[in-house]
Amino acid sequence: MEQLLEQIETYKKEIRGFSAADTKAVEEFRIKYLGTKGVVKSIMGEMKNVPVDKKKEFGQVLNDFKTFAEEKFESLKSSSSGQVDTVNGPDLSLPGDPVALGSRHPITLMRNRIVSIFQRLGFAVAEGPEIEDDWHNFTALNLHEHHPARDMQDTFYVQHPSAGGVDWLLRTHTSNVQIREMEKGKLPIRGIYPGRVYRNETVSARSHCFFHQVEGLYIDENVSFADLKQTLYFFVREMYGKDVKVRFRPSYFPFTEPSAEMDVTCFICGGTGCNICKKTGWVEILGCGMVHPNVLLNCKIDPSKYTGYAFGMGIERPALLKYGINDIRLFSENDVRFLNQFTGAI
Ligand code: DAH
Repeated sequence: MEQLLEQIETYKKEIRGFSAADTKAVEEFRIKYLGTKGVVKSIMGEMKNVPVDKKKEFGQVLNDFKTFAEEKFESLKSSSSGQVDTVNGPDLSLPGDPVALGSRHPITLMRNRIVSIFQRLGFAVAEGPEIEDDWHNFTALNLHEHHPARDMQDTFYVQHPSAGGVDWLLRTHTSNVQIREMEKGKLPIRGIYPGRVYRNETVSARSHCFFHQVEGLYIDENVSFADLKQTLYFFVREMYGKDVKVRFRPSYFPFTEPSAEMDVTCFICGGTGCNICKKTGWVEILGCGMVHPNVLLNCKIDPSKYTGYAFGMGIERPALLKYGINDIRLFSENDVRFLNQFTGAI
């Protein structure tokens, strides 16, 4: 049995190294390996000498060998047919090699949609670091030291605060970019900040330990809540169509005062109530508010002269809903069968 296996290996090496300069050589290959008196047939004939308990295992090896030789034959055939015929020239009627097209990731598609709507309003795109310090992710955003959102359960610390030195962490939201942009000291600011964020959550079909957000910020003299509402109305109309209704609910975020959450009528059921909107007819899409004076002060901006608004929204949820995807994990598994479905989308 050992001998038979060795023999197969030797033939495989031989086949692998075989190259055919012309169609005659390809035919020689076929006769030698795949012909009625060829190597594959004769090796197959050895099956009868294999003990019963090994038949299954060897059957597999022999079949693989046969496929191996057949595949080589096919590849020799196709490469030799593409060879330059010195009498008639190359065969220009042959089809070209197919070009494999990549595709944009559904999260990228959704991010681009969101960002481009604000770009049209004059918002400039910026990005910030995913590994962040405590100041930009929490303290400067008016999240005091004992705020519950800082709880270890939510935040991945790169270096735990007790280790001393800089408290590095994986940012829990894109609001850190607000601070970084305000700290640059150039006013007014009208920016849109997409990026990836991390939270220490159990991974399931509905939540993940990393996801994506888009943050918006507008700081200038005389910016009011009415400006915020008008901008977001425009966004909703462009994103979900003019028939979608909007509602603001009072809410709380440490970095804005007043704060609100914005809902739109469910774009799956149109507001009549379904599983997605939990029968309420409304889907929450973002948090927003007027930038808290403490946040402005932390960035050395004078709150008696400047005001501003900010908002933050997730990208995954609208993407799940738009593309009818039922498991958030699909976004990060790199399964080409999933990703290929977005080929051609821009
Ligand atoms: N950072 C918030 C979150 O991750 C979202 C948010 C709410 C951002 C209100 C804002 C805001 O800028 O004003 O849930």
